[in-house]
Amino acid sequence: MSDRTYFAACGRGLEPVLATELDALGVRSVVERRGGVAFRGDKAAGYRACLWLRSAIRVQEELLSTRVRGEDDLYNAVFELDWDRLLRPEHTLAAYASTRDAPAYRHSGHAAIQVKDAITDQQRQRHGERSSVDREAPDLPLKVVIQRDRLLLYRDLAGTSLHKRGYRPVQVKSPLNEVTAAGLLIRSEWDRASPLVDPMCGSGTFVIEAALLASDTAPGLQRTFAFERWVDFDADLWASLREEAKARAKARLGFALAGADRHAGAVGIAKQSAQQAGVGHLVQFDTSEARDWQPPAPPAFVVCNPPYGERLDDGEVEEAWRALGDFLKSRCSGAEAWVLSGNKAVTRFLRMRTSQRVPAMNGPIECRWLRYEIR
Ligand SMILES: C[S@@+](CC[C@H](N)C(=O)[O-])C[C@H]1O[C@@H](n2cnc3c(N)ncnc32)[C@H](O)[C@@H]1O
Repeated sequence: MSDRTYFAACGRGLEPVLATELDALGVRSVVERRGGVAFRGDKAAGYRACLWLRSAIRVQEELLSTRVRGEDDLYNAVFELDWDRLLRPEHTLAAYASTRDAPAYRHSGHAAIQVKDAITDQQRQRHGERSSVDREAPDLPLKVVIQRDRLLLYRDLAGTSLHKRGYRPVQVKSPLNEVTAAGLLIRSEWDRASPLVDPMCGSGTFVIEAALLASDTAPGLQRTFAFERWVDFDADLWASLREEAKARAKARLGFALAGADRHAGAVGIAKQSAQQAGVGHLVQFDTSEARDWQPPAPPAFVVCNPPYGERLDDGEVEEAWRALGDFLKSRCSGAEAWVLSGNKAVTRFLRMRTSQRVPAMNGPIECRWLRYEIR
């Protein structure tokens, strides 16, 4: 199979984690860049990346890399590609563009329109009909990147963001993004073999991602991908990669993974999500105040994303951090804890000293992933 160039995107700060994941997948030429990691491989490498990567938001395959001097040049470069190889008129498409240091373009939206026009004009010339645009769920999602005079055109293999694993029954308020949770777990170097708990688990993202990780379950098994609708989709190859992934998933772990939250509604969602993710039998969720919670086994590892609202005047956030501190000191001796904080002012309420601080993004919020060793 011919070699392809890919770019897997991730949140800022998680590039080294994603590079480690790609190395483990056995792809070639892994190079960290800002906001993602470039790599090379065959068609299977792209499929595997979608199925297995835990910290990537999307996986894109490069279709074109060339110099362009302006909008006409961009149109011509895209028109020259043989689009019959990539889509038929009955397929839908969408192009998203970002431009940087590129004054030759009126705005990024206009660059995206040039790309779409070049493709649909070629289709109309050849077939008398053209693909329509679907911005919600296009068969062929395209990403156009123009930096100065360099054009990079990608097709997005997943379509919707890879954080959409397919296990959330409903969209919950302020959940931790699945991709961020998995990336932070990998970054913490949890050994995937000792008891892990989250005493303020909300919808259970850390615990569910930990179960997927420890059981070697592919995070993409529960969802579909845009590439399954592509002209060059290899259904046999995809089926064999999925079978291989299913065979790898361990049915039992032999150690506890547990979460608790004081909101029964959130705990209900966590339980449902774990079932849907196929790891319901590997985890336990309880409704409890952190201070009162008795985990099923003495934890060796604690991960937590306590509330960190910008406004601290109602005392609720302060109280949550104090409760977490009490839980860590009374139930977790000898454990290692990692806490995600988006607000420097509240971490002092833990009354504990950090042994490591890792910059991390939680959506648009700049955070710190803080490590504590509990005596
Ligand atoms: C930012 S959310 C956690 C989101 C979670 N990581 C997820 O994946 O959905 C913070 C959670 O802490 C919980 N919480 C706050 N104070 C608590 C306490 N004293 N005991 C237990 N849970 C608490 C809230 O109910 C909320 O679900």
